[in-house]
Amino acid sequence: MAGGFVSQTPGVRNYNYKLTPKVFVTCFIGAFGGLIFGYDLGISGGVTSMDPFLEKFFPYVYQKRKNAHENEYCRFDSELLTLFTSSLYLAALVSSLFASTITRIFGRKWSMFLGGFTFFVGSAFNGFAQNIAMLLIGRILLGFGVGFANQSVPVYLSEMAPPNLRGAFNNGFQVAIIFGIVVATIINYFTAQMKGNIGWRISLGLACVPAVMIMIGALVLPDTPNSLIERGFAEEAKEMLRSIRGTDEVEEEFQDLIDASEESKQVKHPWKNILLPRYRPQLIMTCSIPFFQQLTGINVITFYAPVLFQTLGFGNKASLLSAMVTGIIELLSTFVAVFTVDRFGRRILFLQGGIQMLISQIAIGIMIGVKFGTAGTGNIGKTDANVIVALICIYVAGFAWSWGPLGWLVPSEISPLEIRSAAQAINVAVNMFFTFLVAQLFLTMLCHMKFGLFFFFAVFVFIMTIFIYLMLPETKNVPIEEMNRVWKAHWFWGRFIPDEAVGVSAAELQQKAV
Ligand code: BGC
Repeated sequence: MAGGFVSQTPGVRNYNYKLTPKVFVTCFIGAFGGLIFGYDLGISGGVTSMDPFLEKFFPYVYQKRKNAHENEYCRFDSELLTLFTSSLYLAALVSSLFASTITRIFGRKWSMFLGGFTFFVGSAFNGFAQNIAMLLIGRILLGFGVGFANQSVPVYLSEMAPPNLRGAFNNGFQVAIIFGIVVATIINYFTAQMKGNIGWRISLGLACVPAVMIMIGALVLPDTPNSLIERGFAEEAKEMLRSIRGTDEVEEEFQDLIDASEESKQVKHPWKNILLPRYRPQLIMTCSIPFFQQLTGINVITFYAPVLFQTLGFGNKASLLSAMVTGIIELLSTFVAVFTVDRFGRRILFLQGGIQMLISQIAIGIMIGVKFGTAGTGNIGKTDANVIVALICIYVAGFAWSWGPLGWLVPSEISPLEIRSAAQAINVAVNMFFTFLVAQLFLTMLCHMKFGLFFFFAVFVFIMTIFIYLMLPETKNVPIEEMNRVWKAHWFWGRFIPDEAVGVSAAELQQKAV
């Protein structure tokens, strides 16, 4: 497939390119990086609702669950149980900060490899766990793995992809996350029916499969041209560009990469530099996008869908089945983003998805409120329960083509090379921190805020939708090393970007924009 593309941002160059099999295969393998994160996200909720697992490690929760259901909202409230789920995210937060240095100095692929390796060791600890200590050590190792992979993979994909397909290629990461979630949910469905302790051991132990896939993938993957130049291999980078772009005419893009690398050499401390005013838009975005992504409330569904469905009065099997259905809907809906993000752009997906989530969350809150009230007692009929599952699917679909994939795409493509690794590390760290917070607080919040929890997240979805409308410029089709021009042309952020960063004055840009 050959062709050019026209960027809407004035002054942005158009490169010559072909979509080559090499770039396709490379990004396909690179996207595997999302599998470990997804597998873990999907497996935890199911495992923590399995009786033998609870009986062995959390006998208190097990007893409480067996007892009469005086208050549905509080059936699963246990700090220790949530710590099991959320400890991983704190570990991921810490490791993403180290990962940024490895990603910058040794290349993106070695961070991916390390991610796969630590995840592999963690899965062994978990599969063979004899006590809570082994369980938690395993979780922490898994977390290290996720931190490394999430820091390096989105950057890898964004740098490898041709600019006009960057969105689709990067969204492969989210597809892999959701694929991991769905596979995990299906595995849980079967292992939950096994007697004794074997079921949860299989669920947790099988995490080694995606880990091995990433390790092998990372070994065979080439490094990105951007990273090769950053590390002083200019000739190799040019060769790589030729082979992934399918043309010898890579001079313009190559020159952009060289310029970006020259600029980046001036920057000795990416962590300190990202605080400079000229990087303010990237800093604010890399902090607020992951914060908002988590405040959509998606992980209430991801982690606790089975628990939530049980709270709604579904049986154990029906709960896992419903979680499977929402997962499959999420997977299919993510492809909507893959196929539209480079054509219609990031903003429209963010805005449409936000509105869809907002409406469905309010409806879910009202339905649960009407049925369970504030006392948390009562029963939900079959039809009502099905309506709630349908609403949850609508909500999940909205997330799947907006904040899900874009929460990884946008932060990885908006920063200049000199701060890209640090910015992505901030993105992962903030994401993990709020994933941790939601995972840790959800069951307590459900217990205290009851159905109001859904309104709580709806308020944030409202705020983030306005935020995107006002503050996020469109980045579709813009070459990654030319992104400064987009910020320079923005009504608010333009003031932070110095003229020399784009080689053209703001007045000129505005004039061209008119
Ligand atoms: C988010 C996760 C979420 C997953 C699946 C990812 O983009 O970062 O927190 O669990 O999507 O919905």
